[in-house]
Amino acid sequence: MTFPCLSREKIISGTRVLLRLDLNVPIKEGKVTDDFRILRSMKTLEFLVSSGARTVIVAHIDDKEGGTLLPVFEYLKKKFKIEFSSFKEAGRKAAGLTPGSFLFIENIRENEGEVENDEAFAKELSMFGSLYINEAFSVSHRPHASIVGVPKFLPSYAGFLFEEEVRVLSEVFNPPRPFLFILGGAKFETKIPLIQKFLKLADHCFVGGALANDFFKVKGFEVGTSRLSEAVIDLSLILSHPKLSIPSDVVVKSDGGKSIKKPEEVKSTDVIFDAGPKTVEDIKKLILQSKFVLWNGPLGNYENGFASGTEALACAVSESKCRSIVGGGDTLAVISKLGILDKFSFVSTGGGAMLDFLADETLPGVIALEKSVG
Ligand code: 3PG
Repeated sequence: MTFPCLSREKIISGTRVLLRLDLNVPIKEGKVTDDFRILRSMKTLEFLVSSGARTVIVAHIDDKEGGTLLPVFEYLKKKFKIEFSSFKEAGRKAAGLTPGSFLFIENIRENEGEVENDEAFAKELSMFGSLYINEAFSVSHRPHASIVGVPKFLPSYAGFLFEEEVRVLSEVFNPPRPFLFILGGAKFETKIPLIQKFLKLADHCFVGGALANDFFKVKGFEVGTSRLSEAVIDLSLILSHPKLSIPSDVVVKSDGGKSIKKPEEVKSTDVIFDAGPKTVEDIKKLILQSKFVLWNGPLGNYENGFASGTEALACAVSESKCRSIVGGGDTLAVISKLGILDKFSFVSTGGGAMLDFLADETLPGVIALEKSVG
Protein backbone atom coordinates (compact mmCIF):
# COMPACT_ATOMS: atom_id res chain seq x y z
CA MET A 1 0.00 0.00 0.00
CA THR A 2 1.18 3.50 -0.73
CA PHE A 3 -0.75 4.98 2.18
CA PRO A 4 -0.49 4.56 5.97
CA CYS A 5 -2.78 1.92 7.48
CA LEU A 6 -4.27 1.56 10.93
CA SER A 7 -2.24 -0.53 13.37
CA ARG A 8 -2.06 -1.23 17.10
CA GLU A 9 0.85 1.10 17.89
CA LYS A 10 -0.98 4.15 16.47
CA ILE A 11 -3.55 4.20 19.26
CA ILE A 12 -3.20 4.07 23.02
CA SER A 13 -5.92 4.33 25.62
CA GLY A 14 -7.45 7.80 25.48
CA THR A 15 -6.30 8.67 21.93
CA ARG A 16 -8.81 10.98 20.26
CA VAL A 17 -9.79 9.53 16.89
CA LEU A 18 -11.85 11.09 14.10
CA LEU A 19 -13.37 8.19 12.14
CA ARG A 20 -15.07 8.58 8.75
CA LEU A 21 -17.44 5.70 8.06
CA ASP A 22 -19.84 5.00 5.21
CA LEU A 23 -23.14 4.37 6.98
CA ASN A 24 -25.27 5.31 3.99
CA VAL A 25 -27.37 2.14 4.32
CA PRO A 26 -30.89 1.16 3.26
CA ILE A 27 -33.48 2.35 5.80
CA LYS A 28 -37.21 1.69 5.93
CA GLU A 29 -39.68 2.99 8.49
CA GLY A 30 -36.86 4.17 10.72
CA LYS A 31 -34.98 0.85 10.69
CA VAL A 32 -31.80 -0.30 9.00
CA THR A 33 -32.86 -2.92 6.46
CA ASP A 34 -29.42 -3.97 5.22
CA ASP A 35 -26.44 -3.83 7.57
CA PHE A 36 -23.77 -5.06 5.14
CA ARG A 37 -21.75 -1.83 5.26
CA ILE A 38 -22.06 -1.58 9.05
CA LEU A 39 -20.92 -5.16 9.52
CA ARG A 40 -17.93 -4.54 7.24
CA SER A 41 -16.90 -1.60 9.47
CA MET A 42 -17.13 -3.69 12.66
CA LYS A 43 -13.49 -4.77 12.74
CA THR A 44 -12.33 -1.16 12.96
CA LEU A 45 -15.01 -0.21 15.50
CA GLU A 46 -14.11 -3.16 17.73
CA PHE A 47 -10.41 -2.40 17.35
CA LEU A 48 -11.00 1.17 18.53
CA VAL A 49 -12.96 -0.07 21.55
CA SER A 50 -10.25 -2.55 22.50
CA SER A 51 -7.56 0.13 22.05
CA GLY A 52 -9.41 2.50 24.37
CA ALA A 53 -9.78 5.20 21.72
CA ARG A 54 -12.18 8.09 22.25
CA THR A 55 -13.78 8.17 18.82
CA VAL A 56 -15.92 10.70 16.99
CA ILE A 57 -17.75 9.13 14.04
CA VAL A 58 -18.58 11.19 10.98
CA ALA A 59 -20.86 9.77 8.26
CA HIS A 60 -23.52 10.82 5.76
CA ILE A 61 -26.87 9.51 4.63
CA ASP A 62 -28.75 10.40 1.48
CA ASP A 63 -32.13 12.05 1.77
CA LYS A 64 -34.17 8.88 2.25
CA GLU A 65 -36.44 9.01 5.30
CA GLY A 66 -35.52 12.57 6.20
CA GLY A 67 -31.78 12.22 5.82
CA THR A 68 -31.06 11.30 9.43
CA LEU A 69 -28.56 8.78 10.75
CA LEU A 70 -30.68 8.14 13.86
CA PRO A 71 -31.74 4.62 12.70
CA VAL A 72 -28.05 3.74 12.29
CA PHE A 73 -27.37 5.12 15.76
CA GLU A 74 -30.15 2.91 17.17
CA TYR A 75 -28.44 -0.06 15.49
CA LEU A 76 -24.97 0.80 16.83
CA LYS A 77 -26.31 1.54 20.31
CA LYS A 78 -27.06 -2.16 20.77
CA LYS A 79 -23.38 -2.99 20.34
CA PHE A 80 -21.32 -0.03 21.56
CA LYS A 81 -21.10 2.69 24.18
CA ILE A 82 -22.16 5.48 21.87
CA GLU A 83 -23.88 8.86 21.96
CA PHE A 84 -25.56 10.78 19.14
CA SER A 85 -25.06 14.49 18.52
CA SER A 86 -25.78 17.36 16.21
CA PHE A 87 -22.65 18.88 14.70
CA LYS A 88 -23.21 22.00 16.81
CA GLU A 89 -23.22 20.12 20.10
CA ALA A 90 -20.46 17.69 19.17
CA GLY A 91 -17.49 19.67 20.54
CA ARG A 92 -18.94 19.77 24.03
CA LYS A 93 -20.06 16.14 23.98
CA ALA A 94 -16.75 14.87 22.56
CA ALA A 95 -14.94 16.37 25.53
CA GLY A 96 -16.82 13.92 27.76
CA LEU A 97 -15.89 10.77 25.80
CA THR A 98 -14.34 7.97 27.87
CA PRO A 99 -11.84 5.40 26.48
CA GLY A 100 -13.59 2.84 24.27
CA SER A 101 -16.65 5.00 23.61
CA PHE A 102 -18.03 6.81 20.53
CA LEU A 103 -19.74 10.04 19.68
CA PHE A 104 -21.75 9.77 16.46
CA ILE A 105 -22.41 13.04 14.61
CA GLU A 106 -25.63 13.52 12.59
CA ASN A 107 -25.43 13.51 8.76
CA ILE A 108 -22.30 15.50 7.98
CA ARG A 109 -23.73 16.62 4.62
CA GLU A 110 -26.13 18.88 6.52
CA ASN A 111 -23.12 21.20 6.72
CA GLU A 112 -22.37 23.16 3.55
CA GLY A 113 -18.62 22.98 4.11
CA GLU A 114 -18.64 19.18 3.75
CA VAL A 115 -19.58 18.87 0.08
CA GLU A 116 -17.75 22.07 -0.84
CA ASN A 117 -14.63 20.79 0.96
CA ASP A 118 -14.34 24.11 2.68
CA GLU A 119 -10.92 24.35 4.30
CA ALA A 120 -12.17 26.03 7.49
CA PHE A 121 -14.81 23.32 7.89
CA ALA A 122 -12.23 20.56 7.37
CA LYS A 123 -10.05 22.19 10.02
CA GLU A 124 -13.01 22.37 12.40
CA LEU A 125 -13.67 18.67 11.83
CA SER A 126 -10.04 17.81 12.41
CA MET A 127 -10.29 19.29 15.94
CA PHE A 128 -12.26 16.18 16.96
CA GLY A 129 -9.20 13.94 16.77
CA SER A 130 -5.47 13.74 17.15
CA LEU A 131 -5.57 11.33 14.23
CA TYR A 132 -7.99 10.50 11.43
CA ILE A 133 -9.08 7.15 10.04
CA ASN A 134 -10.78 6.81 6.68
CA GLU A 135 -12.95 3.70 6.84
CA ALA A 136 -15.24 4.97 4.10
CA PHE A 137 -13.72 3.56 0.91
CA SER A 138 -17.18 3.69 -0.66
CA VAL A 139 -17.35 7.50 -0.28
CA SER A 140 -13.74 8.09 -1.20
CA HIS A 141 -14.59 9.10 -4.77
CA ARG A 142 -16.14 12.26 -3.28
CA PRO A 143 -13.70 15.15 -2.73
CA HIS A 144 -15.54 16.19 0.42
CA ALA A 145 -14.10 17.75 3.58
CA SER A 146 -14.40 14.59 5.70
CA ILE A 147 -12.60 12.58 2.99
CA VAL A 148 -9.93 14.81 1.45
CA GLY A 149 -9.92 17.94 3.64
CA VAL A 150 -9.19 16.48 7.07
CA PRO A 151 -5.99 14.56 6.08
CA LYS A 152 -4.36 17.96 5.43
CA PHE A 153 -4.59 18.66 9.16
CA LEU A 154 -4.21 15.29 10.90
CA PRO A 155 -2.01 12.20 10.69
CA SER A 156 -4.29 9.95 8.65
CA TYR A 157 -4.68 6.21 8.19
CA ALA A 158 -6.75 3.78 6.17
CA GLY A 159 -9.11 1.59 8.20
CA PHE A 160 -9.01 -2.20 7.83
CA LEU A 161 -11.86 -2.34 5.31
CA PHE A 162 -10.48 0.55 3.25
CA GLU A 163 -7.13 -1.22 3.04
CA GLU A 164 -8.83 -4.49 2.00
CA GLU A 165 -10.94 -2.76 -0.67
CA VAL A 166 -7.89 -1.17 -2.28
CA ARG A 167 -5.79 -4.34 -2.05
CA VAL A 168 -8.45 -6.68 -3.46
CA LEU A 169 -9.79 -4.34 -6.16
CA SER A 170 -6.21 -3.76 -7.32
CA GLU A 171 -6.09 -7.45 -8.27
CA VAL A 172 -8.05 -6.59 -11.39
CA PHE A 173 -5.09 -4.67 -12.80
CA ASN A 174 -3.03 -7.86 -12.79
CA PRO A 175 -5.74 -10.52 -12.96
CA PRO A 176 -5.80 -14.29 -13.19
CA ARG A 177 -6.88 -15.18 -16.75
CA PRO A 178 -9.18 -15.68 -18.54
CA PHE A 179 -10.74 -12.58 -17.01
CA LEU A 180 -14.41 -11.73 -17.60
CA PHE A 181 -15.74 -8.24 -16.85
CA ILE A 182 -19.52 -7.87 -16.52
CA LEU A 183 -20.99 -4.39 -16.35
CA GLY A 184 -24.67 -3.56 -15.95
CA GLY A 185 -26.77 -0.66 -14.72
CA ALA A 186 -27.19 2.63 -16.54
CA LYS A 187 -25.41 5.92 -17.41
CA PHE A 188 -23.01 5.31 -20.24
CA GLU A 189 -21.69 8.85 -19.89
CA THR A 190 -19.93 7.86 -16.64
CA LYS A 191 -18.98 4.32 -17.67
CA ILE A 192 -17.35 4.80 -21.09
CA PRO A 193 -13.76 5.17 -19.75
CA LEU A 194 -14.27 2.05 -17.67
CA ILE A 195 -15.48 0.00 -20.63
CA GLN A 196 -12.63 1.25 -22.81
CA LYS A 197 -10.13 0.33 -20.11
CA PHE A 198 -11.51 -3.15 -19.53
CA LEU A 199 -11.76 -3.93 -23.22
CA LYS A 200 -7.96 -3.72 -23.04
CA LEU A 201 -7.48 -5.30 -19.62
CA ALA A 202 -10.02 -8.13 -19.59
CA ASP A 203 -10.28 -11.11 -21.94
CA HIS A 204 -14.01 -10.57 -22.39
CA CYS A 205 -16.49 -7.80 -21.50
CA PHE A 206 -20.22 -8.31 -21.19
CA VAL A 207 -22.26 -5.11 -21.07
CA GLY A 208 -25.93 -5.42 -20.03
CA GLY A 209 -28.60 -3.51 -18.11
CA ALA A 210 -29.85 -0.20 -19.46
CA LEU A 211 -26.38 0.35 -20.98
CA ALA A 212 -27.24 -2.28 -23.59
CA ASN A 213 -30.19 -0.19 -24.80
CA ASP A 214 -27.73 2.41 -26.08
CA PHE A 215 -25.96 -0.30 -28.07
CA PHE A 216 -29.28 -1.52 -29.54
CA LYS A 217 -30.03 2.04 -30.61
CA VAL A 218 -26.62 2.41 -32.30
CA LYS A 219 -27.35 -0.85 -34.13
CA GLY A 220 -30.48 0.83 -35.49
CA PHE A 221 -32.94 -1.28 -33.45
CA GLU A 222 -36.15 0.12 -32.02
CA VAL A 223 -35.91 0.56 -28.21
CA GLY A 224 -39.40 1.95 -27.61
CA THR A 225 -39.44 4.00 -24.41
CA SER A 226 -36.59 2.04 -22.76
CA ARG A 227 -34.09 3.88 -20.59
CA LEU A 228 -31.22 5.44 -22.54
CA SER A 229 -28.16 7.44 -21.54
CA GLU A 230 -28.73 11.18 -21.43
CA ALA A 231 -25.72 12.19 -23.51
CA VAL A 232 -25.39 11.25 -27.16
CA ILE A 233 -22.25 9.14 -27.29
CA ASP A 234 -20.47 7.52 -30.21
CA LEU A 235 -20.42 3.84 -29.27
CA SER A 236 -19.60 2.44 -32.70
CA LEU A 237 -15.94 1.63 -31.91
CA ILE A 238 -16.84 -0.09 -28.66
CA LEU A 239 -19.69 -2.00 -30.29
CA SER A 240 -17.43 -3.50 -32.94
CA HIS A 241 -14.78 -4.58 -30.43
CA PRO A 242 -14.15 -8.35 -30.65
CA LYS A 243 -14.09 -8.75 -26.84
CA LEU A 244 -17.53 -7.20 -26.33
CA SER A 245 -20.83 -9.08 -25.85
CA ILE A 246 -24.29 -7.63 -25.26
CA PRO A 247 -27.65 -9.29 -24.52
CA SER A 248 -28.98 -11.60 -27.21
CA ASP A 249 -32.53 -11.44 -25.87
CA VAL A 250 -34.48 -9.06 -23.63
CA VAL A 251 -37.55 -9.02 -21.41
CA VAL A 252 -39.93 -6.30 -22.53
CA LYS A 253 -43.12 -4.89 -21.10
CA SER A 254 -45.86 -3.65 -23.38
CA ASP A 255 -49.63 -3.35 -23.33
CA GLY A 256 -49.82 -7.09 -23.79
CA GLY A 257 -47.72 -7.72 -20.64
CA LYS A 258 -44.23 -9.18 -20.35
CA SER A 259 -42.54 -11.04 -23.19
CA ILE A 260 -39.11 -12.18 -24.31
CA LYS A 261 -37.81 -10.85 -27.61
CA LYS A 262 -34.65 -10.66 -29.65
CA PRO A 263 -33.32 -7.07 -29.47
CA GLU A 264 -34.11 -6.55 -33.16
CA GLU A 265 -37.79 -7.49 -32.54
CA VAL A 266 -38.49 -4.76 -29.97
CA LYS A 267 -41.37 -2.45 -30.96
CA SER A 268 -41.93 1.25 -30.34
CA THR A 269 -44.59 0.34 -27.74
CA ASP A 270 -42.16 -1.88 -25.77
CA VAL A 271 -39.97 -1.05 -22.79
CA ILE A 272 -36.87 -3.19 -22.22
CA PHE A 273 -36.60 -4.11 -18.55
CA ASP A 274 -34.29 -7.13 -18.24
CA ALA A 275 -31.97 -9.56 -19.98
CA GLY A 276 -33.64 -12.71 -21.28
CA PRO A 277 -32.87 -16.39 -20.54
CA LYS A 278 -30.67 -16.87 -23.62
CA THR A 279 -28.49 -13.95 -22.51
CA VAL A 280 -28.09 -15.58 -19.09
CA GLU A 281 -27.02 -18.81 -20.81
CA ASP A 282 -24.51 -16.84 -22.92
CA ILE A 283 -22.98 -15.29 -19.81
CA LYS A 284 -22.89 -18.66 -18.05
CA LYS A 285 -20.78 -20.00 -20.92
CA LEU A 286 -18.41 -17.04 -20.57
CA ILE A 287 -18.16 -17.65 -16.82
CA LEU A 288 -17.32 -21.32 -17.40
CA GLN A 289 -14.43 -20.26 -19.64
CA SER A 290 -13.09 -17.80 -17.03
CA LYS A 291 -10.91 -17.96 -13.95
CA PHE A 292 -11.72 -14.48 -12.73
CA VAL A 293 -14.98 -12.51 -12.85
CA LEU A 294 -15.44 -8.84 -12.01
CA TRP A 295 -19.08 -7.77 -11.91
CA ASN A 296 -20.81 -4.45 -11.17
CA GLY A 297 -24.37 -3.45 -11.99
CA PRO A 298 -27.72 -5.23 -12.51
CA LEU A 299 -28.90 -6.68 -15.82
CA GLY A 300 -32.44 -5.42 -15.35
CA ASN A 301 -34.71 -3.06 -13.48
CA TYR A 302 -34.89 -5.25 -10.38
CA GLU A 303 -36.53 -2.53 -8.25
CA ASN A 304 -39.64 -2.82 -10.42
CA GLY A 305 -39.77 -6.58 -10.36
CA PHE A 306 -37.42 -7.38 -13.23
CA ALA A 307 -34.79 -9.23 -11.23
CA SER A 308 -34.62 -12.62 -12.99
CA GLY A 309 -31.61 -11.82 -15.17
CA THR A 310 -29.57 -10.33 -12.31
CA GLU A 311 -30.55 -13.12 -9.91
CA ALA A 312 -29.61 -15.82 -12.41
CA LEU A 313 -26.29 -14.08 -13.04
CA ALA A 314 -25.63 -13.77 -9.30
CA CYS A 315 -26.25 -17.50 -8.83
CA ALA A 316 -24.05 -18.40 -11.80
CA VAL A 317 -21.11 -16.31 -10.56
CA SER A 318 -21.48 -17.49 -6.97
CA GLU A 319 -21.64 -21.16 -7.99
CA SER A 320 -18.65 -20.95 -10.31
CA LYS A 321 -15.10 -21.87 -9.33
CA CYS A 322 -13.85 -18.45 -10.50
CA ARG A 323 -12.34 -15.88 -8.23
CA SER A 324 -15.19 -13.37 -8.11
CA ILE A 325 -15.22 -9.70 -7.20
CA VAL A 326 -18.60 -7.97 -7.21
CA GLY A 327 -19.94 -4.60 -6.18
CA GLY A 328 -22.43 -1.80 -6.77
CA GLY A 329 -25.43 -0.86 -4.65
CA ASP A 330 -28.03 -2.58 -6.85
CA THR A 331 -25.94 -5.70 -7.36
CA LEU A 332 -25.44 -5.89 -3.63
CA ALA A 333 -29.15 -5.51 -2.96
CA VAL A 334 -29.88 -8.51 -5.19
CA ILE A 335 -27.20 -10.85 -3.79
CA SER A 336 -28.01 -9.79 -0.26
CA LYS A 337 -31.69 -10.65 -0.83
CA LEU A 338 -30.66 -14.03 -2.24
CA GLY A 339 -28.58 -14.63 0.91
CA ILE A 340 -25.43 -15.49 -1.06
CA LEU A 341 -23.11 -12.66 0.00
CA ASP A 342 -20.56 -15.12 1.38
CA LYS A 343 -20.44 -17.10 -1.87
CA PHE A 344 -18.28 -14.51 -3.66
CA SER A 345 -14.54 -14.09 -3.20
CA PHE A 346 -15.04 -10.41 -2.40
CA VAL A 347 -18.04 -8.11 -2.23
CA SER A 348 -17.06 -4.45 -2.39
CA THR A 349 -18.92 -1.92 -0.26
CA GLY A 350 -18.37 0.56 -3.09
CA GLY A 351 -20.80 1.57 -5.79
CA GLY A 352 -19.57 4.69 -7.57
CA ALA A 353 -16.30 4.46 -5.63
CA MET A 354 -15.65 0.96 -6.93
CA LEU A 355 -16.27 2.07 -10.53
CA ASP A 356 -14.06 5.14 -10.17
CA PHE A 357 -11.28 3.11 -8.56
CA LEU A 358 -11.44 0.57 -11.38
CA ALA A 359 -11.30 3.34 -13.98
CA ASP A 360 -8.60 5.53 -12.37
CA GLU A 361 -6.74 3.03 -10.15
CA THR A 362 -7.01 5.56 -7.33
CA LEU A 363 -9.57 7.81 -5.63
CA PRO A 364 -9.47 11.31 -4.12
CA GLY A 365 -9.65 9.68 -0.66
CA VAL A 366 -6.68 7.41 -1.45
CA ILE A 367 -4.60 10.35 -2.71
CA ALA A 368 -5.49 12.35 0.42
CA LEU A 369 -4.17 9.53 2.64
CA GLU A 370 -1.01 9.28 0.56
CA LYS A 371 -0.38 12.99 1.02
CA SER A 372 -1.49 13.11 4.65
CA VAL A 373 0.56 15.00 7.19
CA GLY A 374 1.09 11.74 9.14
C1 3PG B 1 -22.68 5.18 -1.75
O1 3PG B 1 -23.77 4.82 -1.28
O2 3PG B 1 -22.24 4.76 -2.83
C2 3PG B 1 -21.82 6.08 -0.92
O3 3PG B 1 -22.31 6.20 0.37
C3 3PG B 1 -21.71 7.43 -1.57
O4 3PG B 1 -22.95 8.01 -1.54
P1 3PG B 1 -23.31 9.29 -2.41
O5 3PG B 1 -23.49 8.80 -3.82
O6 3PG B 1 -24.54 9.84 -1.79
O7 3PG B 1 -22.12 10.22 -2.32
